Amino acid sequence: MPRSNSLFSALSIFLLGFLWFISPPAEAALKTYQFDIQVKNVSRLCHAKPIVTVNGRFPGPTVYVREGDRVQINVTNHAQYNVSIHWHGLKQYRNGWADGPAYITQCPIQTGSSYVYDFNVTGQRGTLWWHAHILWLRATVYGAIVILPQQGTPFPFPKPEREEVILLGEWWHADVEKLVNKANQLGSPPNKSDAHTINGKPGPLFPCSEKHTFVMEVEQGKTYLLRIINSALNDELFFGIAGHSMTVVEVDAVYTKSFTTQALLIAPGQTTNVLVHANQIPGRYFMAARPFMDVQLPVDNNTATGILEYKGIPNTVLPTLPHLPKSNDSAFAFRYNKRLRSLNSPQFPTNVPLQVDRNLFYTIGLARNSCPACLNGTRLMASLNNISFTMPETALLQAHYFNVKGVFKTDFPDQPPKPFNYTGAPLTANLKTTIGTRLSKIAFNSTVELVLQDTNLLSVESHPFHLHGYNFFVVGTGIGNFDPGKDAPKYNLIDPPERNTVGVPTGGWTAIRFRADNPGVWFLHCHLEIHTGWGLKTAFVVEDGPGADQGILPPPKDLPKC
Ligand code: C2O
Repeated sequence: MPRSNSLFSALSIFLLGFLWFISPPAEAALKTYQFDIQVKNVSRLCHAKPIVTVNGRFPGPTVYVREGDRVQINVTNHAQYNVSIHWHGLKQYRNGWADGPAYITQCPIQTGSSYVYDFNVTGQRGTLWWHAHILWLRATVYGAIVILPQQGTPFPFPKPEREEVILLGEWWHADVEKLVNKANQLGSPPNKSDAHTINGKPGPLFPCSEKHTFVMEVEQGKTYLLRIINSALNDELFFGIAGHSMTVVEVDAVYTKSFTTQALLIAPGQTTNVLVHANQIPGRYFMAARPFMDVQLPVDNNTATGILEYKGIPNTVLPTLPHLPKSNDSAFAFRYNKRLRSLNSPQFPTNVPLQVDRNLFYTIGLARNSCPACLNGTRLMASLNNISFTMPETALLQAHYFNVKGVFKTDFPDQPPKPFNYTGAPLTANLKTTIGTRLSKIAFNSTVELVLQDTNLLSVESHPFHLHGYNFFVVGTGIGNFDPGKDAPKYNLIDPPERNTVGVPTGGWTAIRFRADNPGVWFLHCHLEIHTGWGLKTAFVVEDGPGADQGILPPPKDLPKC
């Protein structure tokens, strides 16, 4: 080797070492995963049935990443259904291509094909989750996403001894897709689920479930972090652990002011991180999940249980059950949600928009419309501002990006067609619900306030609303009709909870605010699958900003075709 070259190498090695020393190595890493969508036979409650899974696992694998990482997940579809996967709560800045809702941001991945979800995890840390976003496949196709803080950045709460993912779900004896198809032919709701599950296991209160019980071993005196996710399709759930209180520290991957509670309320789509101190007499304690339902509607009232087991305690010791609120305890729900506050620290500020550029007011309604093709002659529908959303046949984001005309309209109204007493006596009048693929266009970087108002059309009911592509601030909520003059002055603009899914209370309203700084087409829908299916959804088209780095990124080459 010529001398000059070796000198150069020596010099560069020295320089590299020096640079390494003065600036720590780049923390961003590439995390890759392979997700094989495959059908597998699984047995629960004494019945076996084929279910759609990821990598043959139920629930699916946890995606572990660190804030700042780039993630590439190659999804290969071996199942008979076309699928897509949504990374629920990840903001996907400028990158709706990786968001996943079928026919909204992408066409589904066909049987035998693959698609790589390629995204960066920026400015978020905590617990989120992923799930299938087509048909009702998320009944079994779901898993956790754990975003650890950047290397060297501690949690803003005491370091736990260990952490555990707790996925709450629903289980049906029957094949879920067949069940839903049958219900749609009738125009009526599908049967309620047969069990709730904790990490896919119903627990010993169900038949044949002794071996399908989630057990978490703890040591006395130690503190544990539980990452709790409601992956149920239709049920808001209470969760508690006998003899142990829980300290809430984060919701939807945003830190909160900590508070202690005996029970959590968690709606489909939401996540809650809690610290649990194993400070009781060593023993076995049930953790339990069962629904919150404060109207007379059919609900699966079964309690799923798992066991918090102190080290060394034989499994012959019978656990005790936690006291959970009554299933219709609206007062608990209201108090609990009021206690949720953003951390709002210098490191994690709460940037709630104080001025609003665009005021939106959407009513949530149910209706029974005539349906000549349905066996009953009618079918249930759900609507926002009296519009029931029809799924397009081309993905909306593609239509928007490539300027394909005729796929959707951007005339979704900012207000309902005509005001009425939303939450008064039950209304059976059909307000002539219309159908359409109608979206709302939002200017880049504008601040938006959206008030979601429940109505008594057919029935009041609580609705967990999820917005893709964003977190929002929950600035206010109340019972009855929203009154801007009276309610807006009482908003919390200091430390409102920041999240991606929020409950609109039964017969009430919820106000959220966000800054529309993420261009793309973003789905807004009720996270009760039954209501989404009936049309309780729409989407925002957030326009590109003027800057070179404020537009939608170019689509990946392997984007599925419809
Ligand atoms: Cu978790 Cu559009 O869904």
